[in-house]
Amino acid sequence: MEAETFLQHLRASLAEQSFVKLTLSKPGQKGRSLKNVFARLVHLKEESVLSFTLRYTSRDEVKNHPIEEAIAMISLWLGDEFLNADLFTTVQDHSLQFNKKRKARLFSKKPSHTQAPSTAHDKQKQRLIDPIRAKYLHPMGITGKDGQILKTGQKKFRQINKYIEIIDSLIDQGELGASPHLVDMGSGKGYLTFALYDHLVNNRKLEASITGIELRPKLVSFCNELAQEVGFDRLKFLAMNIEEYQPEKIDMLIALHACDIATDIAIAKGIKAQSSFIVVAPCCHKQIRKQMQCQTALQSVLKHGIMEERQAELVTDGIRSLLLEANGYKTKVFEFISTEHTPKNVMITATQGTGREDALEQIDQIKKDFGIEYHYLEKLL
Ligand SMILES: C[S@@+](CC[C@H](N)C(=O)[O-])C[C@H]1O[C@@H](n2cnc3c(N)ncnc32)[C@H](O)[C@@H]1O
Repeated sequence: MEAETFLQHLRASLAEQSFVKLTLSKPGQKGRSLKNVFARLVHLKEESVLSFTLRYTSRDEVKNHPIEEAIAMISLWLGDEFLNADLFTTVQDHSLQFNKKRKARLFSKKPSHTQAPSTAHDKQKQRLIDPIRAKYLHPMGITGKDGQILKTGQKKFRQINKYIEIIDSLIDQGELGASPHLVDMGSGKGYLTFALYDHLVNNRKLEASITGIELRPKLVSFCNELAQEVGFDRLKFLAMNIEEYQPEKIDMLIALHACDIATDIAIAKGIKAQSSFIVVAPCCHKQIRKQMQCQTALQSVLKHGIMEERQAELVTDGIRSLLLEANGYKTKVFEFISTEHTPKNVMITATQGTGREDALEQIDQIKKDFGIEYHYLEKLL
């Protein structure tokens, strides 16, 4: 009854736009990793949502839910997952408290807030990388001295965050362990490498170490100096060809926009090291394109350069994902950031698990259809 009244206050405050915020606290059972939930109202383009910040023991997760769905979730949590709920509105504050026997009492008092907060979608607040705290972003030209994102750094910052979100949710689907070693092959200027280290160590509280491998010595010196400067002790960069790198252990292999067959070399290293996760965003697809002699009806459209280029991309990355599956990985292929940011936006993620038995047969068929003699990754494996 008291809980129902509390939910009515919540519904009314959202309808009347007097809602300020809601917090759920005091977990109902000991040992739960979800400690608190904070909810705020956000108006997105299409609809209004309640944006939940879920505070786990070692990390925060932000999830948006349409209003009715969010209220249904809160209703399920009340008196079960959480024993305290506080609703702040500009009219009144309401506090719902459950005792050990799960009997609820509702208290209402004068409002502690007289103004509802802005409900504009504030992407920055939801991002996993905090630009103010992430001191490495300034030397990389993404933020100013004050930690504010520069106009010229906005695209890159969005890309970094999208990438971290993907890796974050990937980790939840497998086993990374508490002290993982990650290798970033073709780490370039290290934007993504630094952000990943920051997230794993500072947000997820893992004892992670990351090795970036990069051909260009200047970039490697820049990254090693910066890592020291910002106190990222277990982040190291090596100036070498990824072909020569012989790792003892890899828990996650990453290769983002490594050129043509460098992606294959990286994937092969990951598979051989039995890396739990492999994440690649391939770049150009020359090795397959040069060989392609289509044997199917598609031949008539592949005379157009752009069609041939896209087909080469599809075949190259399709075979990569099948080879990963043939080696016991579960794969996903998707666009990880809109083409507005970079045209190289296909990502393949692979998680160790059950592979696919017929993958090699499928590859043979594709090779026949496209007149391909070999895929470079096959040779490496
Ligand atoms: C396009 S950049 C991408 C940098 C970074 N991964 C990113 O996405 O921001 C590709 C980098 O891979 C490096 N690279 C290419 N082939 C390599 C190889 N065989 N060994 C080591 N580094 C390589 C290049 O020098 C370049 O800095």
